[in-house]
Amino acid sequence: MSVTVLVGSQWGDEGKGKIVDILSEKYDIVTRYQGGANAGHTVAIGDKQYILHLIPSGILRDKVICVIGNGVVIDPTALLDEIALLKKNNIKVDGRLFISHNAHLIMPYHKLLDSISEQGNNKIGTTGRGIGPCYIDKFARKGIKIVDLLNKKVLEEKIRENLKEKNKLLEKIYDSKGLDVEEIIEQYLAFDKAIDKYIKDVPAFLNEAISKGKSILLEGAQGALLDVDHGTYPFVTSSSPTAGGACTGTGIPPTKINNVIGIVKAYTTRVGNGPFPTELLNDEGENLRKIGAEYGATTGRPRRCGWFDAPLVKYSAMVNGIDSVAITKLDVLSGFDEIKICTGYKLNGKLLKSYPTDVDRLSAVIPVYESLPGWKSDISGCLSYDDLPEKTKNYLNFITEKSGINISIISVGPKRQQTFYVSSVR
Ligand code: GDP
Ligand code: IMO
Ligand code: MG
Repeated sequence: MSVTVLVGSQWGDEGKGKIVDILSEKYDIVTRYQGGANAGHTVAIGDKQYILHLIPSGILRDKVICVIGNGVVIDPTALLDEIALLKKNNIKVDGRLFISHNAHLIMPYHKLLDSISEQGNNKIGTTGRGIGPCYIDKFARKGIKIVDLLNKKVLEEKIRENLKEKNKLLEKIYDSKGLDVEEIIEQYLAFDKAIDKYIKDVPAFLNEAISKGKSILLEGAQGALLDVDHGTYPFVTSSSPTAGGACTGTGIPPTKINNVIGIVKAYTTRVGNGPFPTELLNDEGENLRKIGAEYGATTGRPRRCGWFDAPLVKYSAMVNGIDSVAITKLDVLSGFDEIKICTGYKLNGKLLKSYPTDVDRLSAVIPVYESLPGWKSDISGCLSYDDLPEKTKNYLNFITEKSGINISIISVGPKRQQTFYVSSVR
């Protein structure tokens, strides 16, 4: 497959980083298409663990070229910190990382406005990285782009113009202290020197690569249910993690996408607020968190945990056009006597036919569960589908049947070798 989109199929943190790292062995280019440093993609190599926020997870394979598309919002400080960390670990970045000239910049006022809006009554539980306010400015056509770093005069003008409005907002509406415009200008003028060498005309670069037969893996951040259009609005992020976002966020046309892979955790987690029908607010939820080490890779917040939700995954497969999935963290379910799977939602006593993304209905649904016996043995050393216990195979067959998905990859631990390809499930 030459152009593949990889999407988170639930509420993020499905193990995208790990699977991108596995797949990128076979790709020439890995490209991020949306989100920003709100993402935390973990890759474990030997005893080392890398958490990538902005740079595609393909950077850990030295033959892979990495690209940040126009759909991503870039905090230059976070970007430069990440580059420095990689370089410290002897990972070559220069000549391998390219950033779209059209990507928008996260400014200090975006982060401040993000944290202020989270102090009100309707908290989303954001990561505090300035994501929402930056996308607001992008769509209000007030944003500052990476390309603006190249023109000092334009950059200074844009910062002054924005600060005039933002300081009024901060002081008069939010009763907060305004920001020092000269300080921000000085800080952002200096980024040009460090970032210039990475800037590229990404749509031209990627489309030329496709025409030369190069393969591209498009790495989604967050997950389908956090999509601003298709997720559980307003408890979503401000970008388009679903597969369609891969086109608008890079300049690769839909006709060039060959394949969509969904990453699906063997159970469900969510960070931040919003409805979560299969959430377990008991010892079982606590056990999933403990065994699965379910703490945010970006903020360290404990993740909310619950059983596998087949209606959610079925919906996600529909809006993403998922061809096959990688099931991750299957090992975390080892040890449970009984494993529940949500197979449907009831509302006012009636089984729902389609997924209710509106929070009122989603908060009111009663999940319908079926139970399967647990396998009660360690599967983290399994090297193939055939190695898995019968009860694990039954679980996989059951969730694929109920969600209407095909499994192509199974992950039984955070490490590279704890992964195998399958063709025997559905
Ligand atoms: P992402 O945001 O989708 O890339 O996922 P995160 O990196 O935020 O969270 C996934 C976590 O699970 C990371 O700590 C991974 O190292 C870990 N992980 C990935 N796959 C597996 C797996 O199959 N089993 C276990 N136990 N951990 C895994
Ligand atoms: P990865 O790529 C899980 C959640 C936040 C919050 C909502 C909005 O690692 O899977 P934002 O800061 O984006 O405005 O927050 O989205 N969120 C994530 N949850 N994984 C992520 O990224 C997330 N990025 C944002 O917790 O509920
Ligand atoms: Mg994550």
